[in-house]
Amino acid sequence: IQTDIPSLKDTVPFTLGVAFNRAQTLGEHGQLLLRHYGGVTPGNDMKWDATEPEEGRFTFTEADYLVNYAAEHDLKFRGHTLAWHSQTPDWVFKDGDRDLTPADRALLLQRLENHIRTLVTRYKGKIAAWDVVNEVIDENQPDGMRRSKWFEITGLDYIRTAFRVAHEADPGATLFINDYNTEWPRKREALYDLVRKLRAEGVPIDGVGHQLHVNIEQAPASNVEDTIERFAALGVDQQITELDVSVYTDFVSTYDTVPQDVLAEQGYRYKELFDVFRRHASQISSVTVWGVADDGTWLSSFPITRLNPPLPFDDELQAKPAYWGIADPS
Ligand code: XIL
Repeated sequence: IQTDIPSLKDTVPFTLGVAFNRAQTLGEHGQLLLRHYGGVTPGNDMKWDATEPEEGRFTFTEADYLVNYAAEHDLKFRGHTLAWHSQTPDWVFKDGDRDLTPADRALLLQRLENHIRTLVTRYKGKIAAWDVVNEVIDENQPDGMRRSKWFEITGLDYIRTAFRVAHEADPGATLFINDYNTEWPRKREALYDLVRKLRAEGVPIDGVGHQLHVNIEQAPASNVEDTIERFAALGVDQQITELDVSVYTDFVSTYDTVPQDVLAEQGYRYKELFDVFRRHASQISSVTVWGVADDGTWLSSFPITRLNPPLPFDDELQAKPAYWGIADPS
């Protein structure tokens, strides 16, 4: 890895985190991670399908490894994620072969409580922040709520239960509601209304996570700034939780090799966003990029398989214009 460039984490006034897995703690990826990042989020290893594949059978090999690694190296840990509609095993929403219905509300909430209590208790004191619920908003619904199985069966109660139990299990952890597209006004307002309402009820939501999966054309720094200011009025902590900047602007483009000018454009998007984050460092306690280097990005297979390098370091772990957009704001 390059050792003649600044450590990214030293260039920003908040925790700079990165999504990771075990492989990325080894070899040069591990060196890169420790040199540039001060926080970590497991990309997949704490999701429900990874940690409780069958009811009551918990698997913590990877999660334990990652939490221990972070503790050894003094990295802030974001737990991700306790309740989500995706990467959740089918059994959660079934009783044998039968699909659960609203009549099974108590059973589903019991499963949720058991899952969350088990994870949060296991890592009590070691996980600074938890994404308690993920992607619960659908701004195209009249009530703003995604029609997930969680919502269809329990209404808002799964969110209330998730935060209550997480708080009981580790009162010291900062508890987040996390979502994407929060920079866009309609989604921002739907999320804002939900957070305000639940906090008024006493639901222990401490923070709002903005994923910020954006692209080179739609990385509107001014919208991001509006969102941060809007939520600041609620008095919640805020974090940028999954930043990456796709080189594509819709679902059809592909490149065989990404042109230099597109990578330069991407660098400007990083710079504009980090200008906003730095200006709002009193509202934002951490910014996490969603992958150690371009060879590990989820965007090479989502929403389709294609070359898509969205991160500050390339496949060879070399700094890109995106790196300089963060490191050199001048
Ligand atoms: C992604 C992971 O990076 C991929 O490896 C996995 O196949 C799918 O999930 N929003 C989230 C993250 O909250 O958990 C997702 O992570 C990306 C979108």
